[in-house]
Amino acid sequence: MEEGTRDTEKRMNKTILLASRPQGMPTPDNFKLVEAEMPRPQEGEVLIRTLYLSVDPYMRGRMNDRKSYVPPFALNEPITGGVVAEVVESRSDAFAAGDIVTGLLPWQLYTAAKGDHAEVTSVRKVDPRLAPVSTALGILGMPGLTAYFGLLDIGQPAPGETVVVSGAAGAVGTLVCQIAKIKGSRVVGIAGSDEKNQYLTDELGVEAAVNYKTSIDLRSALKDACPGGVDVYFDNVGGEVSDAVLTLINNRARIVICGQISLYNLEQPDTGPRVQPSLLVKSALMQGFIVSDYAARFGEAFGQLGRWVAEGKLKYAESIVEGFENAPQAFLGLFAGENLGKQLVKVGD
Ligand SMILES: NC(=O)c1ccc[n+]([C@@H]2O[C@H](COP(=O)([O-])OP(=O)(O)OC[C@H]3O[C@@H](n4cnc5c(N)ncnc54)[C@H](OP(=O)(O)O)[C@@H]3O)[C@@H](O)[C@H]2O)c1
Repeated sequence: MEEGTRDTEKRMNKTILLASRPQGMPTPDNFKLVEAEMPRPQEGEVLIRTLYLSVDPYMRGRMNDRKSYVPPFALNEPITGGVVAEVVESRSDAFAAGDIVTGLLPWQLYTAAKGDHAEVTSVRKVDPRLAPVSTALGILGMPGLTAYFGLLDIGQPAPGETVVVSGAAGAVGTLVCQIAKIKGSRVVGIAGSDEKNQYLTDELGVEAAVNYKTSIDLRSALKDACPGGVDVYFDNVGGEVSDAVLTLINNRARIVICGQISLYNLEQPDTGPRVQPSLLVKSALMQGFIVSDYAARFGEAFGQLGRWVAEGKLKYAESIVEGFENAPQAFLGLFAGENLGKQLVKVGD
């Protein structure tokens, strides 16, 4: 028996399944932790041990039984999401034991994965010399790419313009605020606690931050924070926060629809003000996007984000929940605003 095979037999595997589909706000009962078979890597595959799991708001959409831009999770099958892992056994020429990899993988302690980036259960290498490996799920991963392309390609902030960011203290939002500052814009963040807003002003240097939970009149608080109006609105949350921002847009404003987290748990579609008349009279652009639209340009973004991190121009915050079994709780925490920056689950050292 080969050494690797014997090792594999000693290990115990666990997985987290989608146990039921949520009605409205998800609960811990929608998830189930079970023991699972230890996968055996086939020729061309690697056995990986999970180090970090990413919890992301878009995963809420995958818990529904409706296709969106990604297919739904199957009932009684593992949840899948962003993972950083260590190769413990390699049957692929492209990887060696000890390599750190990332990919869209099942929530499992151990997984057999391919080195082919086109598929789920496939991985790419992470260079641990660039930054801590957890950043492959944050600033040097999907949230970083989202901030980069959404803001620069659609928002196109110019020096001196006012950029408003909702969900400003989250994984994407903290990066959007800083990239807008790098471009010389005046930045106003919107977040749900005074501690988060203090981080935005004191650590990230945004010009103003508004707490949407405690502002009695959100529109007038935003108006005070944006005396020259709003040129770019990076929308992570939708709903009433966005209704208020949209009343303040300037001529030729750009509105980047990145996320609508305030609506993800609604059972019935929300109704709100009709925005077309104000877009019309302001000659404004409103555009949605999915980060994968930019897959052909990911290399450009990784290069620039990496340089900004190395130069100390981009900071990142991580909120880390310890323990594989706590992944569902960490995911639910996104909807209560428990995270500052990127929410991660630490599974192994
Ligand atoms: N278009 C794309 O390709 C793409 C890619 C990645 C992410 N996204 C979207 O971008 C947004 C941010 O994602 P992220 O990964 O960076 O998450 P995140 O901002 O790190 O975490 C979610 C945050 O949303 C806020 N929130 C929760 N419920 C809210 C509500 N009802 N109203 C207002 N704010 C609420 C909370 O902060 P507070 O304390 O401030 O409430 C929470 O911390 C999400 O909407 C996500 O779906 C889109």
